[in-house]
Amino acid sequence: MASRAPSKIRSWFPELHLPGVIAIQKHFKARPTDLFVLSFPKSGTTWLKALAFAIMTRTQHPLAHHPLHSLNPHQCVVTMDRLFALGQVSTIEAMPSPRILSTHMPFSLLRDSIEGSGCRIICVCRDVKDVLVSWWHFHDKMRPAEIDRVPFAKAFEMFCEGICPSGPIWSHVLEYWEESLRRPEKVLFLKYEEMMEEPMSHAKRLAEFMGCPFSLEEEKEGVVEEILKLCSFEKLRNLEVNKSHKRDAVHLAQFDSLFRKGNVGDWTNHMSPEMARKLEEITQQKFKESGLTV
Ligand code: A3P
Repeated sequence: MASRAPSKIRSWFPELHLPGVIAIQKHFKARPTDLFVLSFPKSGTTWLKALAFAIMTRTQHPLAHHPLHSLNPHQCVVTMDRLFALGQVSTIEAMPSPRILSTHMPFSLLRDSIEGSGCRIICVCRDVKDVLVSWWHFHDKMRPAEIDRVPFAKAFEMFCEGICPSGPIWSHVLEYWEESLRRPEKVLFLKYEEMMEEPMSHAKRLAEFMGCPFSLEEEKEGVVEEILKLCSFEKLRNLEVNKSHKRDAVHLAQFDSLFRKGNVGDWTNHMSPEMARKLEEITQQKFKESGLTV
C-alpha cells in the first residue's frame, strides 16, 4: 500500500535565516550520535543549550573553568541555520562527535535530514503568552534605530495570526510534542515552567536522556547543583561575555538581549485579561485532543 508523504507545515522565517533552512534541507544529514536542541524562539533555548552543553562536557572541563564562563551558550552550541546560510557547512562537518546542534526549524522541515539517523532530540516549550512577550522585547532590542517600534497590540495580532519568526507557534510545538510521544526514547519534550520549578530533577533527566547520567558520587559531590548554578539566569546574565552588545555574522543577536527577565508569567505585565483569554483560547483550540497543555 502506498504510504502518504508526511505533510509539511507552512512557517515564517526571517530573510536572513531562510537560505540556511533551505541549505540544511538540501545538504545536512544527522549522525547517530548527534544531540539536537530544538525549540520555538524565545522558549528557553539559551538555557537548554547551556544545560545540555555543561552536562555533556562536565568531565572534559572542570566546572570552575568551564567554557560557559567565557562563551555565550550559543557559541557553545551552534545554531545550524546561520552557518549553513553563510556557507560554513564544513565547520559543522568538522565538529567531532558527539555534536550538539540547534535550530528553530519546525520538525517537518528537518525530518528528512534526521530520519533514520538515531540522533536524539531535546525540545523545550513555554507558555505561549510569555513567548510572545519575550519575542516582542527581543525584536525591539534588535530593531535598527531607523525602524519604528512595533506596538505590543500589533505584535499580539500578528502572533495570533501565526506571523512571527518560525511561526505559527502551535504547529511548531505540536510537531515536536507528537514526535516525543511517538519516540520517547529519542525525543525529550520539556516545559520551561516545569524546568524553573524543578531544575534538579530536570538536570538529572537530561543527563539520563543524553546517555551520561550523573553517578552517585557526582550527586554527592554536588555536581548537579554546580551545573545548575553555572547555567542559571543570574550567573549567565552577569558574565562579561553575556553583557556584550556585540553581534557578528553568525550570532545575529546581541548576547545581552538573550537575558531579559527569565521569569514565568511576565505576560501579566503586558496583556489585558481579554488578550490573555484570546491567546489561551486559540492555544486550547490548536492543542485540543493532543494531550498537550502549555
Ligand atoms: P524573557 O524574555 O521572558 O526574560 P531563548 O533562549 O529561546 O531566546 O529564550 C529567551 C528567554 O529565556 C528570555 O525570557 C530569557 O530571559 C530567558 N532565559 C535566558 N537564559 C535563561 C536561563 N539561564 N534560565 C532561565 N531563563 C533564561
